[in-house]
Amino acid sequence: MESIFMNYKTTNISDVNVWFKATSVDEFPDDGGVCVKYKNKQIAVFNFQRKGGWYACQNVCPHKFEMVLSRGIVGDHNGIPKVACPMHKKTFSLETGENLNGDLDAIAIYPVKIENNFVYIGFSE
Ligand code: FES
Repeated sequence: MESIFMNYKTTNISDVNVWFKATSVDEFPDDGGVCVKYKNKQIAVFNFQRKGGWYACQNVCPHKFEMVLSRGIVGDHNGIPKVACPMHKKTFSLETGENLNGDLDAIAIYPVKIENNFVYIGFSE
């Protein structure tokens, strides 16, 4: 299972050298997520409308290795945008990936930009 996590590494916007054109913003529910596949990665992308922002992270939850975070619930933790895993409600910061209600490994976070009504995810390769 460890090998799944080797695919995912937090990417700072300054390190992005590939902006992957994922899908139209119209495909996203308000305050909800979509799973986007890029090469061997599943990325959960969130339209966090209440916060006015877009966020992306690995889709795999580090608790039980389920590919489920795109179906998680977005919310606020003391001003930090977060996602709660739909399986057992472990929560993760969408800004840093930190596990906010436990001591699981942080999840990987990716930059998102919107251009011409399309969602782009930033990767460093
Ligand atoms: S699988 Fe995500 S919290 Fe358990």
